[in-house]
Amino acid sequence: MTELAPNHHADYRQFSGVFGYVAGLTMIIGRGADARLVTRIADLDEGDHVLDIGCGPGTAVRLAARDGVRLTGVDPAEPMLRLARLLTRLRRPGGRIEWVCAGAEDLKLPDESVTVCWSLASVHHWPDLDGGLSEVHRVLTPGGLFVALEKRTEPGAKGNASHGWTGQQAEAFGAMLTDHGFEEVEVADHDLARRRVVVVTGRRELSRSGR
Ligand SMILES: C[S@@+](CC[C@H](N)C(=O)[O-])C[C@H]1O[C@@H](n2cnc3c(N)ncnc32)[C@H](O)[C@@H]1O
Repeated sequence: MTELAPNHHADYRQFSGVFGYVAGLTMIIGRGADARLVTRIADLDEGDHVLDIGCGPGTAVRLAARDGVRLTGVDPAEPMLRLARLLTRLRRPGGRIEWVCAGAEDLKLPDESVTVCWSLASVHHWPDLDGGLSEVHRVLTPGGLFVALEKRTEPGAKGNASHGWTGQQAEAFGAMLTDHGFEEVEVADHDLARRRVVVVTGRRELSRSGR
């Protein structure tokens, strides 16, 4: 069976308008384990500035805010950002949080302005993976960490069960990270309480000298 590209749901249109609010509300529940896993992998400290690309209603941002770091959540869908702002006002997680309406392809952040960038259950929706990875590389400080987390799926899965990555799609995305100059690229499966996820990590190289 021919595997689909890692952004095989780039044409999904359910994050805007009324559907966007419904989708965002469903994402408020059951995402805590994903958020805890990426914060553990990122091993944050107070000097970090974290960028969450495709932050949705902001679960991972609010969780990491408890560590006192600076955070920016970006999402191209206004309903997601409205829910993220509302939940953050209600739950008061502390920390320094900003929300920006932007897609991965045009992050609207300065060069080398974030030390950690993560994206949870979002990369499989990015329309332009090369554009998105160029932007991630641009905004990360040298040595900065990128973490992409997706639900682990089976080849040929349909409907909701297909929203994520097979092992092959995760490996293909890892190869793209290497092509974009990231180092220490790793692909790893994790069994969480309710689901299995696959995580691809890489670091922006410290220096381009010698390349
Ligand atoms: C399944 S939701 C995941 C939301 C959140 N990260 C979570 O795990 O709860 C996918 C998110 O990716 C966002 N998204 C879609 N296209 C995107 C793009 N080109 N760049 C960044 N985010 C995008 C959607 O608006 C949506 O909020």
